[in-house]
Amino acid sequence: MDIKVYNKALNKDVADNLIKLIKSRTGLENVDDSLCEKKITEFLKSNRKALQKLSSAENFKRISRSKEVDSVVKYARSRLRPMYGLFLNKDTSKIKEMLKKGENGINDVLFMHVSSGERMKFYEEFYKRMFEVTGKPESIIDIACGLNPMSFEMMNIPKKTRYIALELNQNDADNINQFFSIWKIDGEAFKHDITKEPIRYKADIAFAFKIFDIIDSKIVERIIDELDVKWIAASFSTKTVSRSNMRFKRRAGFQKMLRRLGLKYQTIDFENEIVYLIEKV
Ligand SMILES: C[S@@+](CC[C@H](N)C(=O)[O-])C[C@H]1O[C@@H](n2cnc3c(N)ncnc32)[C@H](O)[C@@H]1O
Repeated sequence: MDIKVYNKALNKDVADNLIKLIKSRTGLENVDDSLCEKKITEFLKSNRKALQKLSSAENFKRISRSKEVDSVVKYARSRLRPMYGLFLNKDTSKIKEMLKKGENGINDVLFMHVSSGERMKFYEEFYKRMFEVTGKPESIIDIACGLNPMSFEMMNIPKKTRYIALELNQNDADNINQFFSIWKIDGEAFKHDITKEPIRYKADIAFAFKIFDIIDSKIVERIIDELDVKWIAASFSTKTVSRSNMRFKRRAGFQKMLRRLGLKYQTIDFENEIVYLIEKV
């Protein structure tokens, strides 16, 4: 991995080991290297001393115990955790085996991702109430999907429903493709960074569950605008990091943006999640 900041570059051994160290924490194992690189770069841009120390090291061993390494690793983990660390809580290498167990394995898999795990108690009701408003979709695009496509059975829709799943994490995308193939669902999952690549798939509904809080609001606006769908179902967690209920569940900034774009919406409240159903046509 090449890491360049201003006119300085990190030795490959230093860069690779830094990334390895950042990812060595439970919950961060699946973070893409490029995202770690981005966080390291971000930190070094604002910390000249660390940049000097890290870029002048010939190998990682020489600096591995320095406070600069400690700070960059802490910084990267603290930024990545809200995106990933809170979401995966077990050893994901077992997912493939669990999927092979069919029906019995799927609930265990959904529980592994905190986002889908939190929805397990009300998944059927979740889709039922959404589809009462939007109608049952014939095609779905699920952006930043995590493991959510594996809740397909609880949607109560035919297997011929076209399902496009986009996820930054290659492992998740691979597991979802395996799920689609075992369950014979007309779906495909792709590794796709929604902050960088435009979303060019057309569908009846887009699911954007628990993602808009963790990406830049300008990018959220770009995505809302470019999605070629009839409905967007965007959800937000209503639990704080310490698991208590949020006082203000609604997202004022998000609502303001929807009004500015002239989009009509309604909300549905669940015990730990609020869903905005946004009409795009
Ligand atoms: C809070 S989880 C939500 C997962 C799923 N939507 C759900 O609610 O069950 C956030 C997911 O977004 C993914 N993600 C984060 N940044 C992303 C990006 N730039 N592009 C695509 N996916 C991203 C993470 O890998 C993670 O699986």
